[in-house]
Amino acid sequence: MIKVLFVCLGNICRSPVAEGIFKYHIAKKNLTTQFLQDSAGTAAYHIGEIPYHISRRVAKEHGVFLDHLGRQFSADDFKTFEYIICMDKNNYRDVLKLAVSNDDRKKVYLMRQWEFKNKFLTPEEAEPVPDPYFGNESDFTAVHKLLDSCVLNLIDHLQHS
Ligand code: 4NP
Repeated sequence: MIKVLFVCLGNICRSPVAEGIFKYHIAKKNLTTQFLQDSAGTAAYHIGEIPYHISRRVAKEHGVFLDHLGRQFSADDFKTFEYIICMDKNNYRDVLKLAVSNDDRKKVYLMRQWEFKNKFLTPEEAEPVPDPYFGNESDFTAVHKLLDSCVLNLIDHLQHS
């Protein structure tokens, strides 16, 4: 089983949506026995909270149900997950600060490294997934669509790795 963790700052907007979209596509493809997904925030602001209301509404419009409760990323996550996929460079740096080995460091990625179907980008090339928290509904919709496309490419990559 391949275990994938999505990471953002608050764990209420971007990473729980990535997790929900991943779960949705994995179920549709009958791959639930092969993958496990979770999400976490680098900050402790929203521990125990359900995802942000606009994230939930936009996800629901796309058939995606978000059942995650906010939790903070910890160094122990390196022991559980093979892929730790961060939304932006700050998350990426904060996660890497908790790595204790090269094996840990090799598990850390940026979500938009999977932006293009047949071209896996380097972390330097990957743009951030913008934080929609202070934005409007259309910002949340754009983030949902971006995550959907990246997650589909990620699943494709994982199935062929
Ligand atoms: P997220 O968005 O990292 O995508 O969950 C945020 C949500 C809340 C805050 C920051 C980012 N906050 O500062 O409370």
